[in-house]
Amino acid sequence: MPISEAKIPVEDRGLQFGDSVYEVIRAYSGHLWLLDRHMERLRTSLEALDFVGVDLSEVEAQIKAVLQRSGISDAIVYLQITRGVAPRMHAIPRNITPNIIITVRHVQPIPEELYVTGVKAVLVEETRWARRDIKATNLLPNILAYNEARKRGAFEAIFVDQADGMVTEGSHTNVFAVINGVLRTPPADHRILPGVTREFVLELAAREGINVDVSPLPVSELNEAEEIFLTGTLTEILGVTLLENRMVGTGTVGTITKRLHSAFREEIRKAIESAA
Ligand code: PDD
Repeated sequence: MPISEAKIPVEDRGLQFGDSVYEVIRAYSGHLWLLDRHMERLRTSLEALDFVGVDLSEVEAQIKAVLQRSGISDAIVYLQITRGVAPRMHAIPRNITPNIIITVRHVQPIPEELYVTGVKAVLVEETRWARRDIKATNLLPNILAYNEARKRGAFEAIFVDQADGMVTEGSHTNVFAVINGVLRTPPADHRILPGVTREFVLELAAREGINVDVSPLPVSELNEAEEIFLTGTLTEILGVTLLENRMVGTGTVGTITKRLHSAFREEIRKAIESAA
């Protein structure tokens, strides 16, 4: 049905408590990119929040069916699973049936020129809860951080934990940096979302023979990076050439960033080809 006609009850716990999880999946030419990894992360999120009664193979079949019926081939598929509907109370009701929402929209791609020029990012204080590895819909701090980035003329806000000065991730992306020739990114612990794109990029980097170090990333080192880039389902691999008002490296998209992005695009091309 048209998205505008879809309804959700006012006592859905997703609305009242943010008691829900989600995934954003990109379809390229009708191919659901890295779908298995999204489904695996969804399973982990559901388990972490103690959701019961979701048949993931059925959800996957529905995603494919809705995408096909939409007739949209370059799409953003949004999946949200809420705990379900119950009179408002903190206790998680027993035998509640989750609500499953799937929307498909035409992708609004990032303008190609931004991959060439790079973008600006700003640093913001990490204010989120301690379980950022769960892809839950409680995104208010992310939205506020992104809003601040936009006001400051930036594409993304990068969170920095004031407690120890470590970079965590962007408001809707993961963060990588090249420092002394080594590709660095923070580990996929509770402090960040284990991005599907992040994981794929780490595999690509290994295949490309790039030296990788997955370990906590102090903001002091980010400030000295030769290259910085962001990864995400919508973002792909996007160079950051301005951090606050300082140039990153020479102020152009770095060679490792470009190499990884073209390898990434090549993998998408192959996936589309082998699905055809
Ligand atoms: N955001 N970190 C955060 C906080 C995110 O919200 C996202 C994705 C990522 C990148 O993850 P992935 O590579 O799996 O897309 C990292 C989605 C796209 C969103 O909320 O719209």
